[in-house]
Amino acid sequence: MSNSKLNASIEAIEYIKSKIDINSIIGVGTGSTVNYFIEELAKIKHTFKGAVSSSDASTQLLEKLGVEVFELNDVNEILVYVDGADEVDADHHLIKGGGGAHTREKIVASASNEFVCIVDNSKLVHILGNFPLPVEVLIKSRSYVAREIVKIGGTPELRKDFLTDQGNQILDVKDLKIENPSLLEQRINLIPGVLDNGIFANCKPQKVIVGKD
Ligand code: 5RP
Repeated sequence: MSNSKLNASIEAIEYIKSKIDINSIIGVGTGSTVNYFIEELAKIKHTFKGAVSSSDASTQLLEKLGVEVFELNDVNEILVYVDGADEVDADHHLIKGGGGAHTREKIVASASNEFVCIVDNSKLVHILGNFPLPVEVLIKSRSYVAREIVKIGGTPELRKDFLTDQGNQILDVKDLKIENPSLLEQRINLIPGVLDNGIFANCKPQKVIVGKD
């Protein structure tokens, strides 16, 4: 049990409570912090319509706790998206994808009216990049993408025994100097074969809640 993750989740529920009504759809991220959030969200499930989930794992937990899960294609509006992060800098730029779900997470975050990030204070950093940057790649493009990443100074490592929910692979990239998160996010995503990378700079949270221990 992590008190700070639980406390961040409780604070997020308090924050969104006043905004939601019976027609509201809530976007839900992925990870151990979000699992606490899902538990808290299920306690108020009678006050909103349902959720759009960013991963199969979150979908399973939401449904187990009685929260209806909708496909992104089937909803017109997501009121708020709540998700964790692996690193957060002072400008709210993030590294995500420790759980390998960042591609769908970024889509649901982008489709939402507001993005609220919930973290414990171990995730706060001065400059992003100590956490290896996850890059989701089509399996057939993996070696090419890895060579292109080396050219921009990164050291890619294939995440072993892991496939994303979409059936792709993840390269975890060390040694990147992420001085301009927005530019690097775009640069890596321009490599053919990359689905998305875990920098959230062009789609960053409006609010970051740091859970107290
Ligand atoms: C999954 C993510 C998670 O939000 C991130 O890895 C943080 O996870 P946790 O809350 O377990 O520390 O991006 O793809």
